[in-house]
Amino acid sequence: MAYNAVDRWINTEKRNQVAILYVNERGEEKKLSYYELYREVNKMANALKNLGVKKGDAVSMYLPMCPELIISMLACTKIGAVHSVVYSGLSVGAFVERMNNAKVKILITADGTYRRGKIINLKKISDEAMLQCPTVETVIVVKHTDEIEMKELRGKELSYDKLIEGEPGECECEPMDAEDPLFLLYTSGSTGKPKGIVHTTGGYMVGVSTTLKNIFDIQPDDTYWCTADIGWITGHSYVIYGPLLLGTTTVVYEGAPDYPDPGAWWKIIEKYGITKFYTAPTAIRHLMRFGDKYTRIYNLSTLRILGTVGETINPEAWMWFYKNVGKEKTPIMDTWWQTETGMHLISPLPSAYLKPGSATKPVPGVFADVVDEKGNSVPLGTGGHLVITKPWPAMFRTLYEDEEKFKDVYWNDIPGVYKAGDMARKDKDGYFWIQGRSDDILKIAGHRIGTSEVESAFVSHPAVVEAAVIGKADPIKGEVIKAFLILKEGYQLKTKLIEELNAHVRYELGPVAVIGELEEVDSLPKTRSGKIMRRILRARDKGEDVGDTSTLEE
Ligand code: PRX
Repeated sequence: MAYNAVDRWINTEKRNQVAILYVNERGEEKKLSYYELYREVNKMANALKNLGVKKGDAVSMYLPMCPELIISMLACTKIGAVHSVVYSGLSVGAFVERMNNAKVKILITADGTYRRGKIINLKKISDEAMLQCPTVETVIVVKHTDEIEMKELRGKELSYDKLIEGEPGECECEPMDAEDPLFLLYTSGSTGKPKGIVHTTGGYMVGVSTTLKNIFDIQPDDTYWCTADIGWITGHSYVIYGPLLLGTTTVVYEGAPDYPDPGAWWKIIEKYGITKFYTAPTAIRHLMRFGDKYTRIYNLSTLRILGTVGETINPEAWMWFYKNVGKEKTPIMDTWWQTETGMHLISPLPSAYLKPGSATKPVPGVFADVVDEKGNSVPLGTGGHLVITKPWPAMFRTLYEDEEKFKDVYWNDIPGVYKAGDMARKDKDGYFWIQGRSDDILKIAGHRIGTSEVESAFVSHPAVVEAAVIGKADPIKGEVIKAFLILKEGYQLKTKLIEELNAHVRYELGPVAVIGELEEVDSLPKTRSGKIMRRILRARDKGEDVGDTSTLEE
C-alpha cells in the first residue's frame, strides 16, 4: 500500500506535484509534494521501528486533520503496523474504550486542534484518557498549534519533532500479503461496545482506487477535496488512500465549515481551483441556511463533480447543492457505503441519469438487493433489508477479536448475503432509495453512534438509574438524541441537572453526541428478557400507533 500510494510516484512526473494540500480555518496552508511526503513517511517509519514497532502491531492516533496524521498512518502502513485512528471529536470515554479494546502500545496525539475560532485542547483529553489505558507505553506528541501551553513532556511522552529528527529519509517497504491487516477502525454497533472493523491490504487498495477513479472521474489535473474527517472511514478511503493511490492532489481541511464566515469552504474552492468536491448532506443543510449569498461571492466554476455521503440527502438539499454550488452543470454522486464496506457500493457514475435522494445503482461489479427477513427479494417499490449478494474487493474481513459477532451481525441473520443494517427500496427503474438503519444506530450529522453507547454514558451519571435513547428528526443534523431517563430519588430534571447531563455525555462521548431532548419517565417499555423496546418509544414520540406489544413485559 505504501509503495503504491507514495513510493512509486517519486520516479514519475508526479514527484514534485502536491500530494497533500493542508488548509485550515485560519487561512494557513502547508503543501507536501509526493517527494516530500515520501521523505516524511520514511522518517516516521524509521522512528517507529526504533521504538520497536513491528509488522502487525497496533498504533493509535488521536490527532487533528494535519499532515502528521497522514504521515503517521502511512508510516505504519510502510512497516506493516496496523493503524487505529480515533476521531478527535470523540471524548475520554469513547477514546479509552477504543484504545483498550485494541490493547494499543503507542499513541500519537497533539496539543490541540482549531475549531470555529477556538483551540480544542486534545492533549488534556488524551492525558485524562491515558490514566485509564494501561497498555500504552509511549505517547508521541505533535506540536500542532503554537498557543497551547503544554507541560514538559514526561515519562512515556516523546515529541514528534524530536523523534524524527535525524532519521533517514529512506525506508524499505514491509512486504505485505493481500490479506494482511491494513488498519482497524472502530465504529458504533447496536450494543454498547464499539466494533473494531478490520480492513486488509490488497482488496481495499483495489476497491478504493477503482471507485474513486470511476465515480469522481479522477484526472491528472484534478484538485480533489473531500471534507470528511480522517477519523472516519470516508477520510481513510477518500481523503488519503484513494487519492494517493491515483496520484491526485488531496486537500485536507482543518476547521469548521462556517468559520470565519459561511463562505469559508467556497473561498477554498475558488482559491485552489477545486475540481471535485465531496461532502456530507448535514454540511450542505447547514450552509444552505445562508441562501445563495456566499456561493455567489466566490467563483466555483472549476467544479466538475460533486459528491455526498453519510446519510440520505433530502431532495431540497440536493437541489440547493446542484443549483448554487454546481451551477446546474455538475453531477452529484450520492455514494452509499459503510465503514464495513470500505469503498462505495451504491453510487451513480458521472454519466448516470440522476434522481435526487437516490444513490442510484450498485457500482459495476457490485450486486445488491432488497429482501425480506428470510432473504427473499421483495417486489419493486416495497421496503426491505438492503443486502449485498456477492463479495467485493474492499470488504472488511472480521471484527477485531470477535469473529462470532462478525458472523452473527452481518452474515448469519440472512444466510448467504451481507446484511448492511439499512432498510431500502428499489423503484421500477432499479434505483435504490435508502430509508435509514434497521438497527439501533443513530446518524447524528452523518456520524454513527449507537443508542446503547449513549445510554451507557447517561447511566454512568449518578442521577440516572436507567436510560433509553432514540433518534429525533432534526432539520440540520438529520437526527439528534432524545433520551428517556429514570432518575434516582431526590433528583429532578431541572435546568442544573440538564446542563450537568449534557456536559457529562459530552465528556464521555464528545461533541458528536448532540442531545435534543430529555424526558423523565417512571418506567421504560421492555421485553421479558429486559431489552428496551425503542420501537415503542419512537412510535409514542411521533404520536403513532405503537403496534404489536405482545412481547412487552412492562
Ligand atoms: O445508514 C447508511 C448511512 O451511513 C451508514 C454507514 O455509516 P458509516 O459506517 O459511519 O459510514 C459513513 C460513510 C461511508 C449506512 O449504513 N449512509 C452512508 N451513505 C449513505 C447513507 N445513507 C443514505 N445515503 C447514502 N449515500
